[in-house]
Amino acid sequence: MSVIEALNWRYAVREFSNEKISDESLKTLLDATRLAATSYGLQPYRLMVIDDKELRKKLLEFSFGQKKVLYCSHLVVFAAQTNIGDSLVDNYIRKVSNVRKIPITELRDYADHIKAALSNKSDKQKREWAHQQAYIALGTLLTSAALLGIDTCPMGGIDARAYDDTLNFKSINLETSMVCALGVRAQQDKSAGLKKVRYDESEMLVTI
Ligand SMILES: Cc1cc2nc3c(=O)[nH]c(=O)nc-3n(C[C@H](O)[C@H](O)[C@H](O)COP(=O)(O)O)c2cc1C
Repeated sequence: MSVIEALNWRYAVREFSNEKISDESLKTLLDATRLAATSYGLQPYRLMVIDDKELRKKLLEFSFGQKKVLYCSHLVVFAAQTNIGDSLVDNYIRKVSNVRKIPITELRDYADHIKAALSNKSDKQKREWAHQQAYIALGTLLTSAALLGIDTCPMGGIDARAYDDTLNFKSINLETSMVCALGVRAQQDKSAGLKKVRYDESEMLVTI
């Protein structure tokens, strides 16, 4: 499929079949998602992939009746980090040093620059910033899934704070951004046949 074909093929699946996606497809999709761009490269979020049905039953209580939480193949929870500050930057800089074989001392100016930029943000702005990065990863997952022929439904219609409690996120400095159901569309899913509604070029784009 071309990119345009894939993006027309995908839609927000409302009803999933019981089919599981293969471990190989899942791994490729998660690898693609890990490759998402982030501000300064900091990747201030984590992904939790939930296969366990009992846990998903609990989460269904906090998903406004969206049964796909239970019936999809896997549920991915995107969780933003809440400890946005110097330690987050130091952690990333250590990773850069290891991967690119650059001594930490040579990365000090870069680290200070990122720390200064983050320290200019209020706590609320830092939180929002981390969630924005998670949303970019969601976009990367949705597009990659379409290209891989994996069905998805992004879901903001959940009680994110109740998800946090259920998944014990507070203790690991995370909070839920949104979730995405993965799987295979059910044949009878009524949303499958709907025409895409998108603003056309003249409404959406300005070229100067
Ligand atoms: C951040 C986000 C949150 C969404 N939340 C939900 C949701 O809770 N439940 C749902 O069925 N669809 C949800 N959607 C799907 C949108 O309704 C859907 O993408 C939009 O109507 C466009 O349709 P299409 O994706 O099928 O082309 C969400 C989409 C996004 C990007």
